[in-house]
Amino acid sequence: LFSAVEMAPRDPILGLNEQFASDDNPNKVNLGVGVYFDDNGKLPLLQCVQAAEKAMMDKPAARGYLPIDGIAAYDAAVKSLVFGADSEPVVSGRVATVQAIGGTGGLKIGADFLKKLNPDAKVLISDPSWENHRALFGNAGFTVESYTYYDADKRGVNFDGMLASLSEATPGTIVVLHACCHNPTGYDISPEQWDQVIAVVKARGLTPFLDMAYQGFGHGIAEDGAVIGKFVAAGLTFFVSTSFSKSFSLYGERVGALSVLCENKDEAARVLSQLKIVIRTNYSNPPIHGGAVVAAVLNNPELRAIWEKELAEMRVRIKAMRQKLVDGLKAAGVKQDMSFITSQIGMFSYSGLSKEQMIRLRTEFGVYGTDTGRMCVAALNSKNIDHVCQAIAKVV
Ligand code: LMR
Repeated sequence: LFSAVEMAPRDPILGLNEQFASDDNPNKVNLGVGVYFDDNGKLPLLQCVQAAEKAMMDKPAARGYLPIDGIAAYDAAVKSLVFGADSEPVVSGRVATVQAIGGTGGLKIGADFLKKLNPDAKVLISDPSWENHRALFGNAGFTVESYTYYDADKRGVNFDGMLASLSEATPGTIVVLHACCHNPTGYDISPEQWDQVIAVVKARGLTPFLDMAYQGFGHGIAEDGAVIGKFVAAGLTFFVSTSFSKSFSLYGERVGALSVLCENKDEAARVLSQLKIVIRTNYSNPPIHGGAVVAAVLNNPELRAIWEKELAEMRVRIKAMRQKLVDGLKAAGVKQDMSFITSQIGMFSYSGLSKEQMIRLRTEFGVYGTDTGRMCVAALNSKNIDHVCQAIAKVV
């Protein structure tokens, strides 16, 4: 049965973790996967999470099956976070939200639902995009193509190119957009540019699918989420996947969601019923713990205030490391202007280094980034930054 099975390539991001784990270089630094580490190189366990877990342990609960769409208080908290508690979509009940296995799970539930709804639609992702977007929508049965995004020469977004690509898309095309902190480039479009994108999406009748995996890692929770309000104001219906992996440092709990904004409450109920079929036939219903923790924090004003503070600390530290990286590269003798790193936002920096340079960084210096030149600046700290800067200086 399995004799003809071919060895699949390693995952371009998570595969690096495997390689990193088996590297015995004492100075190794993992800038591959998008994970935030504190200044001691430790994965944080947030205070708000610990407080929520302590309260749970003080009152241990039995673990029955969750409803197919997850914890009701969690879904409500996600809706409030994404759309605003008092927003018209939430108040009128026209958002269908389901708990998902991470942001990836939210994308996959949406993709499987869309495949049933509009099987012949094409999917457009940004060029470049998170590696898993192409694979995920491709595995859901879609033809995946890209829209222009990154301008390597200008080091930024080729916005005219982006608009032109979207203007050429056939109606019904599913457009995957990064709500904030573009992964992998770190370059976002401005609020005014979002208005133009939304106008094209609306005029062409495209289906927007917003991937919001980094809310709070760019400019702030409200600022990063503001794009959602723009889509609502434009009168569009759309998909949003949410991830709490990064913002709650709960990577391994796989806490995410999918929200679908519908025309009205009745439509939302019908959409929800279909999302539940997708979930039931894939993994039945979600796990409890991570969702319960996030719900407890988001729904408790004191814990929520702690979360917002802790998230802000992560955001500020990442920004500081960007500046340190620019300064450190200069001090290490890099001649080219690397100040573009501070104009990028979120966890990643698209360094512009070639695949060959990234492989040298890994094999000669134990500095791991993706082959595309993406580095997770959220994993830099005051102890590893010099080694990283020296290594980059040697390969550029
Ligand atoms: C990343 O891009 O590194 C993260 O989103 C983690 C992942 O699942 O790829």
